[in-house]
Amino acid sequence: MSPENTHRIGILLSGRGSNFMALADAVDGGAIPNAEIAAVLSDRADAPGLEHARRRGLPAVAVPARGRPRAEHDAALLAHLRAEEVSFVCLAGYLRLLTPEFVRAFPQRILNIHPSLLPAFPGLHAQAQALAYGVRVAGCTVHFVDEELDHGVIVGQSAVPVLPGDDEPALSARILAEEHRLYPQCVATVLAGRYRVEGRRLIPK
Ligand code: GRF
Repeated sequence: MSPENTHRIGILLSGRGSNFMALADAVDGGAIPNAEIAAVLSDRADAPGLEHARRRGLPAVAVPARGRPRAEHDAALLAHLRAEEVSFVCLAGYLRLLTPEFVRAFPQRILNIHPSLLPAFPGLHAQAQALAYGVRVAGCTVHFVDEELDHGVIVGQSAVPVLPGDDEPALSARILAEEHRLYPQCVATVLAGRYRVEGRRLIPK
């Protein structure tokens, strides 16, 4: 693939950025081939993920959301992504729901990772929800982003056991290790186009 055909990935994050780091490592190491991270954007100026990106020499920009209508904020994000010619977006701990306009700007080109086996436990604090419910198996899901929260077609899932002594940090750490493995793998699959979608089902080719 020639450089002009390189997939230009945009990352949206709100916090720690460990999934972003896993994706960046996979791009650097060739596990996500023909790709580069073209922009790292955060709705929070103090997100540690932005600092990680800067240390890696990646363009990292805060686009503060506070006090701004959602449509205006998302339009600002879109403008940044377009300026960097981003063709594919990965949400990596991005804590805001995207507007339909944003989602439609990247049809089937936005992925998210969620720390539960969807459709169980969408929304915030998924690991605490799983513990409170008493499930024996937890995990994470990578899915396409559509206009509903934690809802789009599932690309991949990984399960982990819930152990008797687990509290939220222990379960979250076990799931997070799987997130870091699963997300790069799913991004590579989708960027390579090695799938087709039938209804809600993604069928690998
Ligand atoms: C992860 O658990 C991810 O699944 C969820 O938010 C968390 C982000 O963690 N969407 P990090 O910022 O990637 O470390």
